Amino acid sequence: MSEMGLDLSGKVALVTGGSRGLGMAIATAMAGKGADVAICGRKQENLDQAVKAFGQKGIKVMARVANVGKSSEIADLFQAVEQQFGKLDILVNNVGMNILTPSVSEVDEGLWDKIIESNLKGTYLASSRAVGLMKKAGGGKIINISSIAARKAAMGMGIYCVAKAGVEMLTKVLAVELSQYNINVNAVAPGMVKTKFSQPFWSNEGMLKELTKTIPMGRIAETDDVVGAVLFLASGLSDFVTGEIITVDGGAMA
Ligand SMILES: NC(=O)c1ccc[n+]([C@@H]2O[C@H](COP(=O)([O-])OP(=O)(O)OC[C@H]3O[C@@H](n4cnc5c(N)ncnc54)[C@H](OP(=O)(O)O)[C@@H]3O)[C@@H](O)[C@H]2O)c1
Repeated sequence: MSEMGLDLSGKVALVTGGSRGLGMAIATAMAGKGADVAICGRKQENLDQAVKAFGQKGIKVMARVANVGKSSEIADLFQAVEQQFGKLDILVNNVGMNILTPSVSEVDEGLWDKIIESNLKGTYLASSRAVGLMKKAGGGKIINISSIAARKAAMGMGIYCVAKAGVEMLTKVLAVELSQYNINVNAVAPGMVKTKFSQPFWSNEGMLKELTKTIPMGRIAETDDVVGAVLFLASGLSDFVTGEIITVDGGAMA
């Protein structure tokens, strides 16, 4: 077993969508373990607020505007990371979004493209860029944030379910392809986590009560419930783990 444990000192981590929610919790935890951290998001004002919030915890992050679905913005982001830190050891493909949709058979093409682009294409684009830097560094860790929606169809979330299923297969494909470069690719699949993304569900008392009945542990996750699995996959403790998806859902899928 690696002697480094969960220590990430000397490592450089990029967390996409790190300006709030789960991404912010992951970035905070990685910085707490000694990593230099970069984050991105679409909106400068969200990044500014995040930088302030990180600063109040004594954490300095590099923050750049980049929409993960746009290859030119991803190229600029990775160039900035390389310029600032000279390398990349850890990529967390955390960005994900959903827009409540009618049946997949009825949605227009634009909506399909938008949801697939943010959740799946973005993961592919960022991973591709990361691989170049990780090869130079002699290895690395890619961690994709999936969802239990990848394995359980849900009304109103059809395209998101398809996209996350794609993220899970992309995880396995890249794991197989990149092992030769000492790059581990794994995913974490949370159930519902209390963030802005899921607020329409957990802020509705009736919905929350019904949902909670399906979770053996009797509650939805806080962001910190998910962070441990990500830290494990980012650290030397998981050096022989690749192509794996860790479900963090309080037993909902068990
Ligand atoms: N919350 C849940 O219940 C839950 C459950 C299972 C899985 N997940 C997954 O967990 C991950 C994090 O979700 P969350 O709940 O923390 O979401 P969130 O609170 O909505 O945060 C999303 C973050 O991503 C950024 N972002 C969104 N689209 C982007 C894009 N195209 N390019 C760059 N940045 C983008 C947002 O900033 P800007 O708005 O400024 O871009 C924000 O920083 C997602 O992959 C989600 O699918 C969440």
